[in-house]
Amino acid sequence: MEHFAGVFNKMTSYYENLKTICLSRRSVRKFAPKIVPPEDIEKIKTIAYTSPYASNRKNWELVVVTDNTQIRNIVDQVGERINDLKMKVREDLQEGFSQYAAHFTEFGTAPVLIIPTFRISPGLSVMLSDPEENVAKWERDNYVKSISCVAMLVLLAVESLGLVGCYMTGPLLAEKEIGDMINIKKGRNIGAIIPIGYCQW
Ligand SMILES: Cc1cc2nc3c(=O)[nH]c(=O)nc-3n(C[C@H](O)[C@H](O)[C@H](O)COP(=O)(O)O)c2cc1C
Repeated sequence: MEHFAGVFNKMTSYYENLKTICLSRRSVRKFAPKIVPPEDIEKIKTIAYTSPYASNRKNWELVVVTDNTQIRNIVDQVGERINDLKMKVREDLQEGFSQYAAHFTEFGTAPVLIIPTFRISPGLSVMLSDPEENVAKWERDNYVKSISCVAMLVLLAVESLGLVGCYMTGPLLAEKEIGDMINIKKGRNIGAIIPIGYCQW
């Protein structure tokens, strides 16, 4: 596709539109009981798939969950994990932890979860004759950073369609359990949970 960067610089309306979308975006965690049209989910995917990604390796994909019961089950699973963790938090900090972690399960009313997943494929780290931990970390970080770009595009696409959402990594304290529930492919990681839907108010 032709590169339009030069043209965009001169056309402030594109900038103004993007600015409007960015300024109106807010994290929303409570959703109206209204179905998101499948074509809107496809539109979100179209925007997400324009994302840049590290090392020219598109090792990520989006899993979409629309089953209400499954979403509730994921919330419950995260809740269980938080309860387990709370037992390990210092007693004087447990109340604060509970307040913080309450935000990790605030997606139970979402009609849709968009779940970016990714696979870490070693590149430089396997080229080294003497493996370095820092290089492996750098590699993993690159994939996580790629997923962050994807997630941001998801949020902007969501906003542009009159929907709302929230980028959540708190639920990933139960990443293994969530992965099992959504039948994530072997060797893949979950980058975030992005509940989306219509604003409740
Ligand atoms: C990496 C990352 C992780 C986040 N995880 C959560 C989360 O687990 N639960 C939640 O409710 N919000 C989460 N958020 C949303 C932030 O709380 C939110 O973006 C921030 O408070 C700013 O508010 P705004 O998005 O409305 O501008 C996360 C945001 C980022 C960037």
